[in-house]
Amino acid sequence: MSKITIAIDGFSSTGKSTVAKQIAKHMGYVYVDTGAMYRAVTFYAMQNGLIGEDDFNIKALINRLPKIDINFKFNESLGFAEVYLNDKNVEKQIRTLEVSSFVSKVAAISEVRQKLVEQQKKMGKDKGVVMDGRDIGTVVFPDAELKIFMTASAETRAQRRYEELMERGDHVDYHAVLENVKERDYIDSNREDSPLVKADDAIEIDNSNMSLQEQFDEILGLVQMTLKGC
Ligand code: DC
Repeated sequence: MSKITIAIDGFSSTGKSTVAKQIAKHMGYVYVDTGAMYRAVTFYAMQNGLIGEDDFNIKALINRLPKIDINFKFNESLGFAEVYLNDKNVEKQIRTLEVSSFVSKVAAISEVRQKLVEQQKKMGKDKGVVMDGRDIGTVVFPDAELKIFMTASAETRAQRRYEELMERGDHVDYHAVLENVKERDYIDSNREDSPLVKADDAIEIDNSNMSLQEQFDEILGLVQMTLKGC
């Protein structure tokens, strides 16, 4: 059976990665969380004093890009790949609200995007990949056979993210999470380079009132239909 490329784009905290992982597992495809790559660069910038509350040394970050190596390694027990920054597992550190509050600024830098997009294209060159992000169907794989665009209300997304962070022991304020979701929506949709937009040929799924199972079933149905047409 031929393999396809599945691009899943959409706003932050729409649950893209959860359903993308499940689809990849079911299909025996590789799953790539491109948001994790932007988060890892942001974490590097934070650790190296290049980004903080009031300052952001963009030039220094661009100069250091060749020194930033981002990779994924499959974790058998978790059933998905974790992200490594310069050979160090940073899967946990990149999910904090602090990283979330800086990441859109880092993701707006063209030099960062060029580096990561090039790597993403290589990772998906043999198809059989589920990649989620903001620009997968528009920039990374404009020829992807299946493109999904996930949406949900900002409040629904903030609630989900809040529960996720609290579950992990991160005691955050719901309103701070909601503000962060709205701010990221704005920056991601209004940046000059590769803004978050729905590709013309993407299928929109609003999952505000859908269970995970319903989302999985709907996307799997689309995958099967796409494979039939290949
Ligand atoms: O999916 P996420 O919330 O982990 O993504 C983190 C940030 O990275 C998000 O604010 C937008 C940015 N991003 C991007 O610009 N392009 C991508 N392909 C993936 C993420």
